[in-house]
Amino acid sequence: MTPDKERDFDDLLVMLKEIRGFDFSGYKRTTLERRIARRLEFLKLRDHAEYRDYLELEPEEFNELFDSLLINVTGFFRDPAAWQSLRANVVRGLVAGKPADQGIRIWSAGCATGEEAYTLAMILAAEMGDEEFTRRVKIYATDLDEQALQVARAAVYTERQVAGVPAEFLETCFERSESGYGFRRDLRRRVIFGRNDLTRDAPISRVDLVSARNTLMYFTTETQLNVVRRFHFALSDPGHLFLGRAEMLLNQSDTFEPVDLRMRIFRKKGGTTSFAGLASRSAQPVAGGPRPAGELHVAALASSPIAHIVLDTEGRLALLNARAEALFNLHPRDLGRPFQDFELSYRPVELRSVIEQARAEVRAVELREVLWHRPGEPQPGVFDIVVLPLRDGAGRLLGVGVNFHEVTRFRRLRDDLQRANRALEPAYEELQQISDALKARESEASEAAPGHQA
Ligand SMILES: C[S@@+](CC[C@H](N)C(=O)[O-])C[C@H]1O[C@@H](n2cnc3c(N)ncnc32)[C@H](O)[C@@H]1O
Repeated sequence: MTPDKERDFDDLLVMLKEIRGFDFSGYKRTTLERRIARRLEFLKLRDHAEYRDYLELEPEEFNELFDSLLINVTGFFRDPAAWQSLRANVVRGLVAGKPADQGIRIWSAGCATGEEAYTLAMILAAEMGDEEFTRRVKIYATDLDEQALQVARAAVYTERQVAGVPAEFLETCFERSESGYGFRRDLRRRVIFGRNDLTRDAPISRVDLVSARNTLMYFTTETQLNVVRRFHFALSDPGHLFLGRAEMLLNQSDTFEPVDLRMRIFRKKGGTTSFAGLASRSAQPVAGGPRPAGELHVAALASSPIAHIVLDTEGRLALLNARAEALFNLHPRDLGRPFQDFELSYRPVELRSVIEQARAEVRAVELREVLWHRPGEPQPGVFDIVVLPLRDGAGRLLGVGVNFHEVTRFRRLRDDLQRANRALEPAYEELQQISDALKARESEASEAAPGHQA
Protein backbone atom coordinates (compact mmCIF):
# COMPACT_ATOMS: atom_id res chain seq x y z
CA MET A 1 0.00 0.00 0.00
CA THR A 2 1.23 3.52 -0.74
CA PRO A 3 1.47 5.93 2.24
CA ASP A 4 -1.68 7.71 0.98
CA LYS A 5 -3.61 4.46 0.85
CA GLU A 6 -2.28 3.53 4.31
CA ARG A 7 -3.61 6.84 5.63
CA ASP A 8 -7.01 6.25 4.01
CA PHE A 9 -7.16 2.84 5.55
CA ASP A 10 -6.24 4.21 9.01
CA ASP A 11 -8.96 6.86 8.64
CA LEU A 12 -11.47 4.12 7.94
CA LEU A 13 -10.43 2.27 11.14
CA VAL A 14 -10.75 5.52 13.12
CA MET A 15 -14.23 5.99 11.69
CA LEU A 16 -15.29 2.49 12.81
CA LYS A 17 -14.04 3.26 16.29
CA GLU A 18 -15.59 6.72 16.57
CA ILE A 19 -18.97 5.98 15.04
CA ARG A 20 -19.56 2.39 16.14
CA GLY A 21 -17.12 1.91 19.04
CA PHE A 22 -15.33 -1.05 17.40
CA ASP A 23 -11.58 -0.80 17.84
CA PHE A 24 -9.77 -2.96 15.30
CA SER A 25 -6.27 -1.69 16.07
CA GLY A 26 -5.37 -5.02 17.73
CA TYR A 27 -6.35 -7.08 14.67
CA LYS A 28 -3.96 -8.31 12.00
CA ARG A 29 -3.72 -5.68 9.34
CA THR A 30 -3.52 -8.13 6.41
CA THR A 31 -6.75 -9.84 7.50
CA LEU A 32 -8.59 -6.52 7.81
CA GLU A 33 -7.30 -5.35 4.43
CA ARG A 34 -8.41 -8.58 2.76
CA ARG A 35 -11.89 -8.47 4.28
CA ILE A 36 -12.44 -4.79 3.48
CA ALA A 37 -11.16 -5.29 -0.06
CA ARG A 38 -13.92 -7.88 -0.48
CA ARG A 39 -16.57 -5.32 0.51
CA LEU A 40 -15.09 -2.75 -1.91
CA GLU A 41 -15.13 -5.28 -4.71
CA PHE A 42 -18.72 -6.27 -3.95
CA LEU A 43 -19.88 -2.63 -3.86
CA LYS A 44 -17.75 -1.71 -6.88
CA LEU A 45 -16.01 1.09 -4.99
CA ARG A 46 -12.53 2.30 -5.86
CA ASP A 47 -10.83 2.99 -2.55
CA HIS A 48 -11.21 3.40 1.21
CA ALA A 49 -12.09 7.07 0.93
CA GLU A 50 -15.07 6.18 -1.28
CA TYR A 51 -15.98 3.44 1.14
CA ARG A 52 -16.03 5.92 4.04
CA ASP A 53 -18.46 8.12 2.08
CA TYR A 54 -20.59 5.08 1.35
CA LEU A 55 -20.71 4.14 5.04
CA GLU A 56 -21.92 7.63 5.90
CA LEU A 57 -24.70 7.43 3.36
CA GLU A 58 -25.65 3.78 4.01
CA PRO A 59 -25.14 3.03 7.71
CA GLU A 60 -26.60 -0.47 7.14
CA GLU A 61 -23.27 -1.27 5.53
CA PHE A 62 -21.63 -1.17 8.98
CA ASN A 63 -23.41 -4.43 9.80
CA GLU A 64 -22.24 -6.08 6.59
CA LEU A 65 -18.70 -4.91 7.28
CA PHE A 66 -18.67 -6.15 10.88
CA ASP A 67 -20.09 -9.44 9.71
CA SER A 68 -17.22 -9.73 7.34
CA LEU A 69 -14.55 -8.61 9.85
CA LEU A 70 -15.75 -10.65 12.84
CA ILE A 71 -16.03 -13.77 10.82
CA ASN A 72 -18.10 -16.10 12.97
CA VAL A 73 -17.66 -19.38 11.21
CA THR A 74 -18.15 -22.04 13.84
CA GLY A 75 -19.64 -25.48 14.33
CA PHE A 76 -20.67 -28.07 16.88
CA PHE A 77 -17.74 -30.37 17.77
CA ARG A 78 -15.47 -28.40 15.42
CA ASP A 79 -12.28 -30.55 15.07
CA PRO A 80 -13.78 -33.69 16.67
CA ALA A 81 -10.37 -35.13 17.69
CA ALA A 82 -9.62 -31.99 19.72
CA TRP A 83 -12.94 -32.34 21.57
CA GLN A 84 -12.23 -36.01 22.26
CA SER A 85 -8.89 -35.04 23.76
CA LEU A 86 -10.47 -32.27 25.84
CA ARG A 87 -13.04 -34.69 27.20
CA ALA A 88 -10.46 -37.37 28.06
CA ASN A 89 -7.64 -35.14 29.29
CA VAL A 90 -9.44 -32.26 30.98
CA VAL A 91 -13.19 -32.65 31.51
CA ARG A 92 -12.98 -36.11 33.08
CA GLY A 93 -10.33 -34.97 35.58
CA LEU A 94 -12.22 -31.77 36.32
CA VAL A 95 -15.42 -33.65 37.13
CA ALA A 96 -13.60 -36.29 39.20
CA GLY A 97 -11.37 -33.79 40.98
CA LYS A 98 -13.96 -31.28 42.22
CA PRO A 99 -15.94 -31.98 45.38
CA ALA A 100 -19.65 -32.55 44.64
CA ASP A 101 -20.67 -29.39 46.48
CA GLN A 102 -18.52 -27.15 44.30
CA GLY A 103 -19.57 -25.52 41.05
CA ILE A 104 -17.75 -25.88 37.73
CA ARG A 105 -17.24 -22.65 35.80
CA ILE A 106 -16.34 -22.54 32.12
CA TRP A 107 -15.76 -19.64 29.73
CA SER A 108 -16.33 -19.96 26.00
CA ALA A 109 -14.58 -16.80 24.77
CA GLY A 110 -15.42 -15.77 21.18
CA CYS A 111 -18.42 -18.12 21.17
CA ALA A 112 -19.96 -16.76 17.90
CA THR A 113 -23.43 -18.30 17.44
CA GLY A 114 -23.16 -20.62 20.45
CA GLU A 115 -22.16 -23.97 18.96
CA GLU A 116 -18.91 -24.15 20.97
CA ALA A 117 -20.64 -23.34 24.28
CA TYR A 118 -23.35 -25.96 23.66
CA THR A 119 -20.71 -28.53 22.68
CA LEU A 120 -19.10 -27.92 26.07
CA ALA A 121 -22.50 -28.36 27.73
CA MET A 122 -23.10 -31.69 25.97
CA ILE A 123 -19.70 -33.07 26.95
CA LEU A 124 -20.02 -32.02 30.58
CA ALA A 125 -23.57 -33.35 30.87
CA ALA A 126 -22.39 -36.66 29.39
CA GLU A 127 -19.54 -36.91 31.90
CA MET A 128 -21.47 -35.96 35.04
CA GLY A 129 -25.12 -36.75 34.26
CA ASP A 130 -27.85 -34.20 33.50
CA GLU A 131 -28.87 -33.63 37.09
CA GLU A 132 -25.36 -32.86 38.36
CA PHE A 133 -24.76 -30.74 35.28
CA THR A 134 -27.82 -28.56 35.85
CA ARG A 135 -26.95 -28.22 39.54
CA ARG A 136 -23.24 -27.42 39.29
CA VAL A 137 -22.14 -26.17 35.87
CA LYS A 138 -22.16 -22.62 34.55
CA ILE A 139 -20.85 -21.85 31.08
CA TYR A 140 -20.22 -18.18 30.37
CA ALA A 141 -20.24 -17.66 26.62
CA THR A 142 -19.11 -14.28 25.31
CA ASP A 143 -18.50 -12.57 22.00
CA LEU A 144 -18.10 -9.10 20.59
CA ASP A 145 -20.81 -9.60 18.03
CA GLU A 146 -24.33 -8.90 19.38
CA GLN A 147 -26.05 -10.39 16.34
CA ALA A 148 -24.19 -13.66 16.77
CA LEU A 149 -25.13 -13.67 20.47
CA GLN A 150 -28.81 -13.30 19.59
CA VAL A 151 -28.62 -16.43 17.44
CA ALA A 152 -26.78 -18.19 20.27
CA ARG A 153 -29.46 -17.30 22.83
CA ALA A 154 -32.24 -18.53 20.53
CA ALA A 155 -30.36 -21.87 20.27
CA VAL A 156 -32.25 -23.12 17.23
CA TYR A 157 -30.14 -24.58 14.45
CA THR A 158 -30.72 -25.88 10.94
CA GLU A 159 -30.17 -29.47 9.85
CA ARG A 160 -26.98 -28.36 8.17
CA GLN A 161 -25.70 -26.69 11.34
CA VAL A 162 -26.26 -29.77 13.48
CA ALA A 163 -24.60 -32.07 10.94
CA GLY A 164 -21.46 -32.25 13.13
CA VAL A 165 -23.35 -33.34 16.27
CA PRO A 166 -22.82 -37.05 17.00
CA ALA A 167 -26.09 -39.01 16.72
CA GLU A 168 -26.34 -39.84 20.43
CA PHE A 169 -26.12 -36.15 21.38
CA LEU A 170 -28.49 -35.04 18.64
CA GLU A 171 -31.03 -37.48 20.02
CA THR A 172 -30.66 -36.59 23.69
CA CYS A 173 -29.75 -32.90 23.71
CA PHE A 174 -31.91 -31.37 20.95
CA GLU A 175 -35.64 -31.04 20.45
CA ARG A 176 -36.90 -31.12 16.89
CA SER A 177 -39.53 -28.55 15.91
CA GLU A 178 -40.75 -26.82 12.79
CA SER A 179 -38.16 -24.11 13.18
CA GLY A 180 -35.27 -26.55 13.43
CA TYR A 181 -33.22 -28.28 16.14
CA GLY A 182 -33.55 -26.49 19.49
CA PHE A 183 -30.94 -27.10 22.17
CA ARG A 184 -32.68 -28.57 25.25
CA ARG A 185 -34.01 -25.83 27.54
CA ASP A 186 -32.80 -27.28 30.89
CA LEU A 187 -29.23 -27.64 29.58
CA ARG A 188 -29.40 -24.29 27.82
CA ARG A 189 -30.28 -22.50 31.05
CA ARG A 190 -26.76 -23.21 32.33
CA VAL A 191 -25.21 -21.29 29.43
CA ILE A 192 -25.09 -17.53 30.00
CA PHE A 193 -24.41 -15.39 26.97
CA GLY A 194 -22.99 -11.87 27.14
CA ARG A 195 -21.04 -9.33 25.16
CA ASN A 196 -17.37 -9.08 26.07
CA ASP A 197 -14.51 -7.56 24.11
CA LEU A 198 -11.54 -9.83 24.81
CA THR A 199 -9.09 -7.03 24.12
CA ARG A 200 -10.64 -4.52 26.53
CA ASP A 201 -13.24 -5.85 28.95
CA ALA A 202 -12.60 -7.49 32.30
CA PRO A 203 -12.30 -11.25 32.00
CA ILE A 204 -14.73 -13.70 33.64
CA SER A 205 -13.03 -14.83 36.84
CA ARG A 206 -12.32 -18.11 38.68
CA VAL A 207 -13.04 -20.38 35.75
CA ASP A 208 -11.84 -23.97 35.49
CA LEU A 209 -11.60 -23.98 31.70
CA VAL A 210 -11.31 -21.30 29.03
CA SER A 211 -12.24 -22.38 25.54
CA ALA A 212 -11.08 -19.68 23.13
CA ARG A 213 -10.91 -21.28 19.73
CA ASN A 214 -10.17 -19.65 16.40
CA THR A 215 -10.37 -16.12 17.76
CA LEU A 216 -6.82 -15.27 18.84
CA MET A 217 -5.56 -15.86 15.32
CA TYR A 218 -7.19 -12.65 14.08
CA PHE A 219 -5.25 -10.55 16.60
CA THR A 220 -1.74 -9.09 16.32
CA THR A 221 0.98 -10.83 18.36
CA GLU A 222 0.87 -8.09 20.98
CA THR A 223 -2.90 -8.33 21.39
CA GLN A 224 -2.69 -12.15 21.55
CA LEU A 225 -0.21 -11.88 24.44
CA ASN A 226 -2.45 -9.40 26.19
CA VAL A 227 -5.54 -11.60 25.80
CA VAL A 228 -3.70 -14.74 26.94
CA ARG A 229 -2.56 -12.88 30.05
CA ARG A 230 -6.23 -12.17 30.79
CA PHE A 231 -7.05 -15.87 30.34
CA HIS A 232 -4.29 -16.75 32.80
CA PHE A 233 -5.78 -14.34 35.30
CA ALA A 234 -9.29 -15.71 34.67
CA LEU A 235 -8.32 -19.30 35.36
CA SER A 236 -8.38 -21.01 38.74
CA ASP A 237 -5.47 -23.23 39.64
CA PRO A 238 -5.75 -25.94 38.32
CA GLY A 239 -7.22 -24.51 35.14
CA HIS A 240 -7.04 -25.27 31.43
CA LEU A 241 -6.99 -23.36 28.16
CA PHE A 242 -8.33 -24.79 24.88
CA LEU A 243 -7.33 -23.04 21.64
CA GLY A 244 -8.06 -23.61 17.95
CA ARG A 245 -5.94 -26.03 15.92
CA ALA A 246 -4.14 -23.25 14.05
CA GLU A 247 -3.29 -21.25 17.16
CA MET A 248 -0.17 -21.28 19.30
CA LEU A 249 0.75 -19.81 22.66
CA LEU A 250 3.71 -17.53 22.06
CA ASN A 251 6.31 -17.06 24.80
CA GLN A 252 3.97 -18.41 27.44
CA SER A 253 6.06 -21.24 28.86
CA ASP A 254 6.15 -19.49 32.24
CA THR A 255 2.39 -19.35 32.47
CA PHE A 256 1.05 -22.38 30.58
CA GLU A 257 2.28 -25.89 29.86
CA PRO A 258 0.93 -28.22 27.18
CA VAL A 259 -1.42 -31.08 28.06
CA ASP A 260 -2.01 -32.05 24.43
CA LEU A 261 0.06 -29.74 22.24
CA ARG A 262 -1.32 -31.02 18.93
CA MET A 263 -4.89 -30.37 20.09
CA ARG A 264 -3.85 -27.05 21.63
CA ILE A 265 -4.83 -27.89 25.20
CA PHE A 266 -2.79 -26.18 27.92
CA ARG A 267 -2.69 -26.19 31.70
CA LYS A 268 -2.17 -23.05 33.74
CA LYS A 269 1.12 -22.99 35.63
CA GLY A 270 1.10 -21.65 39.16
CA GLY A 271 3.97 -19.78 40.89
CA THR A 272 5.86 -21.81 43.47
CA THR A 273 4.83 -25.45 43.69
CA SER A 274 4.25 -27.55 46.73
CA PHE A 275 5.38 -31.16 46.67
CA ALA A 276 4.32 -32.45 50.07
CA GLY A 277 4.73 -36.08 48.97
CA LEU A 278 8.15 -35.54 47.44
CA ALA A 279 9.42 -33.94 50.65
CA SER A 280 8.61 -36.93 52.79
CA ARG A 281 9.97 -39.41 50.21
CA SER A 282 13.27 -37.56 50.07
CA ALA A 283 13.60 -37.57 53.83
CA GLN A 284 14.63 -41.20 53.86
CA PRO A 285 17.93 -41.26 51.92
CA VAL A 286 19.57 -38.58 54.04
CA ALA A 287 18.02 -39.51 57.36
CA GLY A 288 20.58 -38.82 60.03
CA GLY A 289 21.44 -35.36 58.72
CA PRO A 290 25.16 -34.80 58.39
CA ARG A 291 25.88 -38.47 59.10
CA PRO A 292 25.50 -40.65 55.97
CA ALA A 293 22.55 -43.03 56.33
CA GLY A 294 24.17 -45.91 54.48
CA GLU A 295 26.74 -46.56 51.84
CA LEU A 296 24.19 -47.18 49.14
CA HIS A 297 22.41 -43.90 49.74
CA VAL A 298 25.63 -41.95 49.84
CA ALA A 299 26.91 -43.59 46.64
CA ALA A 300 23.63 -42.84 44.87
CA LEU A 301 23.70 -39.22 45.99
CA ALA A 302 27.39 -38.82 45.12
CA SER A 303 26.98 -40.07 41.57
CA SER A 304 23.73 -38.26 40.77
CA PRO A 305 23.97 -36.02 37.67
CA ILE A 306 21.83 -33.49 39.56
CA ALA A 307 23.82 -31.16 41.81
CA HIS A 308 22.66 -31.71 45.37
CA ILE A 309 23.55 -30.16 48.72
CA VAL A 310 22.12 -30.69 52.20
CA LEU A 311 22.14 -28.18 55.06
CA ASP A 312 21.69 -29.25 58.68
CA THR A 313 19.20 -27.65 61.08
CA GLU A 314 21.80 -24.99 61.95
CA GLY A 315 22.13 -23.98 58.30
CA ARG A 316 25.60 -25.56 57.84
CA LEU A 317 26.68 -27.44 54.73
CA ALA A 318 26.23 -31.08 55.70
CA LEU A 319 26.43 -33.02 52.42
CA LEU A 320 27.28 -32.33 48.81
CA ASN A 321 27.78 -34.50 45.77
CA ALA A 322 30.40 -34.46 42.99
CA ARG A 323 28.20 -32.53 40.59
CA ALA A 324 27.64 -29.78 43.19
CA GLU A 325 31.41 -29.64 43.87
CA ALA A 326 32.18 -29.18 40.19
CA LEU A 327 29.40 -26.75 39.47
CA PHE A 328 29.73 -24.45 42.49
CA ASN A 329 33.42 -24.76 43.11
CA LEU A 330 32.83 -26.37 46.51
CA HIS A 331 35.11 -28.86 48.30
CA PRO A 332 34.52 -31.55 50.92
CA ARG A 333 36.57 -29.45 53.34
CA ASP A 334 33.72 -26.88 53.15
CA LEU A 335 31.45 -29.29 55.03
CA GLY A 336 30.38 -27.81 58.37
CA ARG A 337 30.69 -24.17 57.24
CA PRO A 338 27.62 -21.87 57.40
CA PHE A 339 25.79 -21.77 54.11
CA GLN A 340 25.70 -17.96 54.03
CA ASP A 341 29.51 -17.97 53.68
CA PHE A 342 29.17 -19.32 50.14
CA GLU A 343 28.48 -17.32 47.00
CA LEU A 344 25.94 -20.03 46.18
CA SER A 345 23.69 -18.69 48.95
CA TYR A 346 22.91 -15.60 46.85
CA ARG A 347 24.07 -16.39 43.29
CA PRO A 348 22.57 -17.37 40.82
CA VAL A 349 19.54 -16.61 43.01
CA GLU A 350 18.88 -15.49 46.59
CA LEU A 351 18.47 -18.91 48.26
CA ARG A 352 18.58 -18.05 51.96
CA SER A 353 15.01 -16.72 52.09
CA VAL A 354 13.75 -19.65 50.00
CA ILE A 355 15.39 -22.12 52.39
CA GLU A 356 13.81 -20.26 55.30
CA GLN A 357 10.42 -20.47 53.58
CA ALA A 358 10.74 -24.22 52.92
CA ARG A 359 11.75 -24.76 56.54
CA ALA A 360 9.03 -22.57 58.05
CA GLU A 361 6.21 -23.87 55.86
CA VAL A 362 7.54 -27.45 55.89
CA ARG A 363 7.01 -27.83 52.19
CA ALA A 364 9.10 -27.97 49.05
CA VAL A 365 9.59 -24.75 47.11
CA GLU A 366 10.52 -24.83 43.46
CA LEU A 367 12.21 -22.07 41.47
CA ARG A 368 11.85 -22.57 37.75
CA GLU A 369 14.30 -21.62 35.02
CA VAL A 370 16.83 -19.68 37.06
CA LEU A 371 19.47 -18.17 34.75
CA TRP A 372 23.11 -18.41 35.77
CA HIS A 373 25.84 -16.55 33.90
CA ARG A 374 28.94 -18.58 34.70
CA PRO A 375 32.25 -16.77 34.23
CA GLY A 376 33.85 -17.67 30.90
CA GLU A 377 30.68 -19.22 29.43
CA PRO A 378 29.14 -17.47 26.43
CA GLN A 379 25.53 -18.38 27.28
CA PRO A 380 23.80 -18.52 30.68
CA GLY A 381 22.95 -21.94 32.12
CA VAL A 382 19.33 -22.58 33.14
CA PHE A 383 18.38 -24.41 36.35
CA ASP A 384 15.24 -25.64 38.07
CA ILE A 385 15.99 -25.48 41.79
CA VAL A 386 14.00 -27.43 44.40
CA VAL A 387 14.42 -26.76 48.11
CA LEU A 388 13.09 -29.64 50.26
CA PRO A 389 12.70 -29.85 54.03
CA LEU A 390 14.01 -33.26 55.13
CA ARG A 391 12.29 -35.06 57.98
CA ASP A 392 12.79 -38.31 59.85
CA GLY A 393 10.10 -40.98 60.23
CA ALA A 394 8.60 -39.10 63.20
CA GLY A 395 8.32 -35.88 61.16
CA ARG A 396 11.22 -34.10 62.94
CA LEU A 397 13.16 -31.71 60.73
CA LEU A 398 16.65 -33.02 59.91
CA GLY A 399 17.76 -30.35 57.52
CA VAL A 400 17.08 -28.98 54.07
CA GLY A 401 18.09 -30.45 50.71
CA VAL A 402 18.66 -28.29 47.64
CA ASN A 403 18.63 -29.82 44.12
CA PHE A 404 19.92 -27.95 41.09
CA HIS A 405 18.54 -29.54 37.96
CA GLU A 406 20.25 -28.17 34.85
CA VAL A 407 17.70 -27.66 32.05
CA THR A 408 19.79 -25.53 29.68
CA ARG A 409 19.61 -28.06 26.86
CA PHE A 410 15.81 -28.44 27.12
CA ARG A 411 15.33 -24.73 27.30
CA ARG A 412 17.41 -24.24 24.11
CA LEU A 413 15.49 -26.97 22.32
CA ARG A 414 12.21 -25.44 23.44
CA ASP A 415 13.32 -21.99 22.31
CA ASP A 416 14.33 -23.39 18.90
CA LEU A 417 10.96 -25.11 18.65
CA GLN A 418 9.12 -21.93 19.59
CA ARG A 419 11.10 -19.99 17.00
CA ALA A 420 10.20 -22.58 14.37
CA ASN A 421 6.54 -22.47 15.46
CA ARG A 422 6.55 -18.70 15.34
CA ALA A 423 7.88 -18.82 11.80
CA LEU A 424 5.10 -21.27 10.85
CA GLU A 425 2.33 -19.57 12.76
CA PRO A 426 1.39 -16.92 10.17
CA ALA A 427 1.12 -19.65 7.54
CA TYR A 428 -1.18 -21.78 9.76
CA GLU A 429 -3.33 -18.85 10.68
CA GLU A 430 -3.56 -17.65 7.11
CA LEU A 431 -4.65 -21.13 6.07
CA GLN A 432 -7.30 -21.33 8.78
CA GLN A 433 -8.59 -17.86 7.95
CA ILE A 434 -8.82 -18.70 4.25
CA SER A 435 -10.66 -21.89 5.12
CA ASP A 436 -13.08 -19.92 7.37
CA ALA A 437 -13.61 -17.35 4.63
CA LEU A 438 -14.36 -20.13 2.11
CA LYS A 439 -16.84 -21.70 4.53
CA ALA A 440 -18.51 -18.33 5.03
CA ARG A 441 -18.86 -17.88 1.26
CA GLU A 442 -20.14 -21.42 0.87
CA SER A 443 -22.84 -20.88 3.49
CA GLU A 444 -23.78 -17.49 1.97
CA ALA A 445 -24.13 -19.21 -1.41
CA SER A 446 -26.24 -22.02 -0.01
CA GLU A 447 -28.50 -19.59 1.87
CA ALA A 448 -28.98 -17.62 -1.35
CA ALA A 449 -29.75 -20.77 -3.35
CA PRO A 450 -33.39 -21.25 -4.49
CA GLY A 451 -35.31 -23.64 -2.22
CA HIS A 452 -33.11 -22.91 0.79
CA GLN A 453 -34.94 -23.02 4.12
CA ALA A 454 -33.56 -21.13 7.10
C1 LIG B 1 -14.05 -17.78 13.87
S1 LIG B 1 -15.11 -17.39 15.22
C2 LIG B 1 -14.76 -18.69 16.33
C3 LIG B 1 -15.99 -19.30 16.95
C4 LIG B 1 -15.75 -20.47 17.88
N1 LIG B 1 -14.91 -20.11 18.98
C5 LIG B 1 -15.16 -21.64 17.12
O1 LIG B 1 -13.98 -21.91 17.18
O2 LIG B 1 -15.95 -22.34 16.45
C6 LIG B 1 -14.34 -15.97 15.94
C7 LIG B 1 -15.25 -15.20 16.89
O3 LIG B 1 -14.46 -14.26 17.60
C8 LIG B 1 -15.26 -13.11 17.81
N2 LIG B 1 -14.40 -11.96 18.13
C9 LIG B 1 -13.61 -11.24 17.30
N3 LIG B 1 -13.01 -10.25 17.97
C10 LIG B 1 -13.42 -10.36 19.25
C11 LIG B 1 -13.13 -9.63 20.45
N4 LIG B 1 -12.30 -8.57 20.43
N5 LIG B 1 -13.72 -10.01 21.60
C12 LIG B 1 -14.57 -11.06 21.61
N6 LIG B 1 -14.88 -11.80 20.54
C13 LIG B 1 -14.30 -11.45 19.37
C14 LIG B 1 -16.00 -12.96 16.50
O4 LIG B 1 -17.16 -12.15 16.64
C15 LIG B 1 -16.32 -14.42 16.17
O5 LIG B 1 -17.58 -14.78 16.64
